[in-house]
Amino acid sequence: MNIIGIETSCDETAAAVVKDGRTVLSNVVYTQIPLHVPYGGVVPEIASRAHVEKISEVIRTAIEQFRGVSDEKIDAVAVTYGPGLSPALTVGLNAAKGLALSMGIPLIGINHIEAHLHTPFLVDATDEATVPALDPHDFMPALGLAISGGHTTWLDLPAYGKYAIVGQTLDDAAGEAFDKAAKLLGLGYPGGPKVDRISKEYGLADLLPFPKGRPREGVTALAGLDAELCVSFSGLKTALLRYVQQHGGAEKLAAEGEIPHIVASYQEAIVPVVADRTAHALRRRNYRALIVGGGVSLNSRLRTVLAQVAERAGVRLLMAKPKYCGDNGAMIAGLAYYRRNKTGAAAFALDVAPSLDFEE
Ligand code: KG4
Ligand code: ZN
Repeated sequence: MNIIGIETSCDETAAAVVKDGRTVLSNVVYTQIPLHVPYGGVVPEIASRAHVEKISEVIRTAIEQFRGVSDEKIDAVAVTYGPGLSPALTVGLNAAKGLALSMGIPLIGINHIEAHLHTPFLVDATDEATVPALDPHDFMPALGLAISGGHTTWLDLPAYGKYAIVGQTLDDAAGEAFDKAAKLLGLGYPGGPKVDRISKEYGLADLLPFPKGRPREGVTALAGLDAELCVSFSGLKTALLRYVQQHGGAEKLAAEGEIPHIVASYQEAIVPVVADRTAHALRRRNYRALIVGGGVSLNSRLRTVLAQVAERAGVRLLMAKPKYCGDNGAMIAGLAYYRRNKTGAAAFALDVAPSLDFEE
């Protein structure tokens, strides 16, 4: 079964065709990052207009690439309907509805964060013969970690398609924390990749003691979750701001060559904290796998420490190859194969859900 997936929740206009939830037959990602760089972050109005301009071309190219490698038909259209930026989501959802209607095939609405957790199961058509097929059902129960610009959430997956949130950030997401720090330090947008590279070059020597984001037991924001499984990054951001102010500002620190030291310290106040919460979550239940998805899973230090955490816990670590870590249409199309029950008139009546949480 071939599904075309469409993704426009933030700053990537993307479409891809995936066979049977696994084999990526075409994958087109148009990134708007250069458009948002001058503003230091994603501007929703600019994002939605760029989606409008690019969506047809991206979809057409994805279909053409698919036709170049397959004589089969496309059986369904999948689309992200949330969470994300409302005006951006609307562009993809409307395009998907039109495409499904014109092709006379079903539409499937997909949760963007769930889709990130499907990325470890994707394989390029060119690698299909050499990479063993992973069936998500074989790895349940699993612990999921969705870590991106908008989410830092730990999920219990008793079965594939069933989710319960067991922990999360009480304020900023990890990616957001990286992006905000990079902006404050004058490193530009998006901050995550820059923080990653600079920290790697600097190493771990003599780090500054930034706060480690442990929420206090009993705060209402925990909403009944275990404080040991939650994080808070807003205090870290404030600590960084205070440090920069107390030391004469970002420009002065840059002139003194201090930025790498600060950046590496900041990253080290985030990554081990995420690893620590993950290790704690893995001790709560007899999981078979740790499934990690989202843009921040590209972080090289996070990849290293999560590998150690998974090994110590004796669970299989499932993480996407880098090209599928950021937003893309393949993850939407891939997950949709396991969500084929979500079609019919209800799908065509879907509205965008900017704050969509996890549903079964
Ligand atoms: O999943 P994604 O592409 O979009 C959302 O759904 O949010 O994630 C984007 C986030 C941004 O905050 C970006 O700075 C972060 O992922 N990111 C990274 C790295 N590459 C991207 N964070 C840390 N290290 C990286 N190498
Ligand atoms: Zn994403």
